[in-house]
Amino acid sequence: MARVAIIPGDGIGPDVMAEAVRLLEFIRQRDALDLELVHWDLGAERYLRDGVALSDAQFAELEADYDSILLGALGDPRVPDNAHMRDILLRLRFGLDLYLNHRPAYLPAPGLSPLAGMEGRPIRLDVVRENTEGIYVNMGGRFKVGTPDEIAIHEDLNTRKGVERIIRAAFDIASRRSRDRVTMVDKANAMPAIGALWRSVFSEVGEEYPGITKDTMLVDAMAMDLVRRPEQYQVLVTSNLFGHILSDVAAIVTGGLGLAASANLNPGRHAMFEPVHGSAPDIQGTGVANPLAMIRCAGLLLDFLGHHDQASEVESSVVDVIASGRTTPDLGGTATTTEVGAAVLARVTG
Ligand code: IPM
Ligand code: MG
Repeated sequence: MARVAIIPGDGIGPDVMAEAVRLLEFIRQRDALDLELVHWDLGAERYLRDGVALSDAQFAELEADYDSILLGALGDPRVPDNAHMRDILLRLRFGLDLYLNHRPAYLPAPGLSPLAGMEGRPIRLDVVRENTEGIYVNMGGRFKVGTPDEIAIHEDLNTRKGVERIIRAAFDIASRRSRDRVTMVDKANAMPAIGALWRSVFSEVGEEYPGITKDTMLVDAMAMDLVRRPEQYQVLVTSNLFGHILSDVAAIVTGGLGLAASANLNPGRHAMFEPVHGSAPDIQGTGVANPLAMIRCAGLLLDFLGHHDQASEVESSVVDVIASGRTTPDLGGTATTTEVGAAVLARVTG
């Protein structure tokens, strides 16, 4: 029995999660999948009420008793520093050692890209972001705060073990998904020590994958090229911060945050799936939130649990719905969150 924690979270999180859960419940029953979806009440509401975002006991339970987590979104204006978001999202990423953040992005139809002239230029990117190190480890601090001599330091932590496992994961993703090029993105000209570590590990590990073309790019050039000629890239592997930024670029050139799903993985052990988008509290409950990123996360979850046919069924239904024009306003349609969810469900049912 696979047990999945459902954490709708804040803002539009519950809006889009309702659609993903409706679909998952349908597939679970239809195919008699050995799957249990358990709702978890975590988010700003609970944090404001109890002063705790995720207790140690809850973390331990998620770690011991759950196969994976489906997360909507976290972020609420009533918690201005979003402390609860760090306590939940970042704690789960670090605590469960979800070192692999895979953010697949492909353009379902040329017209959905804000880039002009995408006819005949299919974009298919797999952004592989290191998810447990780098600048996100929050090592550092402030000194002489508020004085003219104030200092703020934030360390960029990179370990050979961490770099090696993410680079290997990128090559494995390339092999599994029949991609023949992996591009490592860094900032070796301004950050030579970190660049040298990443580059030497990239060439060492790369030798194990002779059929795959390898190249390296500086992150500024990569950001530019993802706009200029995104169709030329396949798998990008990079650090936590650069991957975070580049995956937003990859998302927007392939139809926007409304479509972008992501998997946080510790392969074979734990997984958490979340849309790349945030909680967008300004549109919460208005029916304009696009549920497709969340629904795609449900597809990634099914895939992770070994239900590959159902996963591709979800993905192709999403693509069909986009093609049918039954979309939310971000994709040019007039349908509501629930109507889009229902349209995907109708395709899966039919
Ligand atoms: C993301 C998010 C998070 C990140 C935030 C919410 C901490 O933007 O997953 O892309 O920076 O990783
Ligand atoms: Mg982000």
